[in-house]
Amino acid sequence: MDRVGSTGEGRTRAMYSFVCKRSCPLSTLGRATLATSAGTQALVVTEHSETVRSERHGEIGVIVVDNPPVNAIAPSVRDGIYSAVQELSADEAVGAVVLHCAGSTFMAGADIRGLGARPTGRTTTEISAALEAMRKPVVAALQGNALGGGLEIALGCHFRCAHSGTRLGLPEVNLGLIPGGGGTQRLPRLVGVEAALQMIGSGKPVTAAEALRLGLVDRVVEPVDILAAAVAYARELRDAAVPLRRLSEVAPPSVPDLDALLSSIESGLRRTRKGEQAPLKAIEAVRAAVTTPFHEGLATEARLFAELENSSQSRALRHLFLAERQVAKLRGIPVDTPVRAVRRVGVVGGGTMGRGIALAFCNAGLPVALVENEPAALERAMAAIADVHAGALGKGRITAGQHAERIARIRGATDMSAFAEVDLVIEAVFEDMALKRRVFADLERICPSHAILATNTSALDIDAIAGATGRPQDVIGLHFFSPAHIMRLVEVVQGRQTATDVIATAMKLVKSIDKIGVLAGNCDGFIGNRMLAGYRREAEFLLLEGASPQQVDHALVGFGMAMGPHAMGDMAGLDIGAAGRRRRRAEGTLPDDPRFGVIADKLVELGRLGQKTSAGFYRYQPGSRDPLPDSEVADLIEQEALRLGVTRRQVSDEEIVERCVYPLINEAARILEEGIAQRPGDIDVVWVNGYGFPRVRGGPMQFADETGLARVLERLQQFGRQHGPLYWTPAPLIERLVAENATFATLN
Ligand SMILES: NC(=O)c1ccc[n+]([C@@H]2O[C@H](COP(=O)([O-])OP(=O)(O)OC[C@H]3O[C@@H](n4cnc5c(N)ncnc54)[C@H](O)[C@@H]3O)[C@@H](O)[C@H]2O)c1
Repeated sequence: MDRVGSTGEGRTRAMYSFVCKRSCPLSTLGRATLATSAGTQALVVTEHSETVRSERHGEIGVIVVDNPPVNAIAPSVRDGIYSAVQELSADEAVGAVVLHCAGSTFMAGADIRGLGARPTGRTTTEISAALEAMRKPVVAALQGNALGGGLEIALGCHFRCAHSGTRLGLPEVNLGLIPGGGGTQRLPRLVGVEAALQMIGSGKPVTAAEALRLGLVDRVVEPVDILAAAVAYARELRDAAVPLRRLSEVAPPSVPDLDALLSSIESGLRRTRKGEQAPLKAIEAVRAAVTTPFHEGLATEARLFAELENSSQSRALRHLFLAERQVAKLRGIPVDTPVRAVRRVGVVGGGTMGRGIALAFCNAGLPVALVENEPAALERAMAAIADVHAGALGKGRITAGQHAERIARIRGATDMSAFAEVDLVIEAVFEDMALKRRVFADLERICPSHAILATNTSALDIDAIAGATGRPQDVIGLHFFSPAHIMRLVEVVQGRQTATDVIATAMKLVKSIDKIGVLAGNCDGFIGNRMLAGYRREAEFLLLEGASPQQVDHALVGFGMAMGPHAMGDMAGLDIGAAGRRRRRAEGTLPDDPRFGVIADKLVELGRLGQKTSAGFYRYQPGSRDPLPDSEVADLIEQEALRLGVTRRQVSDEEIVERCVYPLINEAARILEEGIAQRPGDIDVVWVNGYGFPRVRGGPMQFADETGLARVLERLQQFGRQHGPLYWTPAPLIERLVAENATFATLN
């Protein structure tokens, strides 16, 4: 321990707190001079708040932010930095200053739960200004993540020194916000308008190397102690009397045709971030940086930030940000539940889903055994997989070496003995219960006794599938979405007897392949497809009542859905829904209603299965996926309406949205009541990530809360009066929440 308290720069946090506990309890703010046992120079430590202290490393003052685990910018961090700046400014013995964060990361943003509330203490803008105003060089020592407010504070420093592994970014746009601590004003002055808007508009971080190229950092250091490197850099700057670079005093970049540049950036952002307000406000703020003095630009930024902070879009995106993290928390399953090791994966069936699932595991580095039932089918599957790998190589997403590894990682076979050593197998054969039960009986026989047996069924009863084995505790649903190597959602479906460690393992595994797992209970369609049924039902009823497929799709795309329901049906294949209805009809669980699925069933009868037959609700030119209106479909709809006695009328876009979206909310409420979903946020995560529900609306539950549950209830009741109670009886949960003046959010 003899280095502790010396001016050496390699001390760890653990060592520091050990000394501190003896000499200057953290709870007592103040100043302590620590003499060292080795007789080296004394280290003066001043506690400015419970998360910030200042130290003297010789003539270099170091401000240390120490707010584990990620140095979130809490009020005590801002106030502490401000106080340290005052102290170090006044100390003439201090020749330069370093802003450093303990642990492994620089500040990576504020706690988003504090947004929307009145800020306490100093603001990030004030901190950046205070650092910038210092009359001695200030160096930010960057490592780990320097994101959001963290990067804005670093921009207030005169110089930035980054560890080579640092990621730097302004991700506020992902929360429906713009940087609000001066970032929109300082960044363009440093890196130019285009690079600044690339970072602010995309929210994507850049590497240290890229930051150096852009001029965002001044020095990148290879894996050495970042504090030591920054202190050495600060010393150099002081010794060379390098002029201080205060970005607020730097002239804004001169852009020859600003309007043209901003409008081309805007059209790009309108495409990549459809329907989002924040990227457009970012452009407005950056325009102010270039066209108005710094302090006016800051005021513009503050005004735009406040507008966004109180917008429904930002509330929705913040909700999703938290919900996507909360899904991993499993009620009733302790976080330390032991999990099974999954090192090898098997996939049965190499059709649309099996291929994608095999790719998802392979791309994440797991070896996969893929089994088809005959050589020609296997060949087709392996060729399709090879095409995807070749595409990734061609686009430069992977190297030739990675390509070779990926090709080698999926082994094809036509015999299930290939599963003799797998730890988990996923079945993706046709959606047919008898077939799936046969496959599971085989899997039980062939797979090792510790292996997890999963099914990718879209809607079938997991317990009935598990019942085909003698080990139902090892059986679980892993419902991937198409294309499975791209779509991030996986519903993890728990059967009646699924073991706790199997659930915990499945959730962890899904996360490890960079997907979002949402735990669902076992019922027809689980969470997502069960809700989809009502949405699709109304989308078709509206056709009988007078809307065209394109009007329905257009209205819902206008609402923000990634695709309209009819175009989506055509893409997925209308035969899939038709098969589901046949099954439910046989089981007696289909509503007693001749209108139910009638148009889609007729289209399937005509061989119009969707895109794969170049005709469904729309027609398609050979090789094209653009849906074109088809008079044959219009005639069919009219004939069916006549046959079923449905009076046709003008349908408004507003009615289309309400008729399709409110059943989602009503069904979701029943799903919650039955415990099929753990919480409303989980349902939102499913619909945003699996069904193209607009992120900026936060998912059906968040949308219901924003609309007001009383309004939702009133419309459900009105539709019930018009169309009968069969589909429109409000879920008791909605009635209860309205009576209590509560929201879905209170159940998260
Ligand atoms: N297509 C989707 O969008 C989607 C989405 C989620 C879940 N699912 C579900 O995934 C499963 C597979 O769907 P799909 O769209 O990939 O079907 P698909 O028809 O494209 O592929 C099924 C494959 O299974 C193979 N197969 C059949 N019996 C087999 C056996 N005994 N052994 C090995 N291989 C066998 C077939 O040869 C075929 O290649 C179904 O349960 C479906 O409900 C589909």
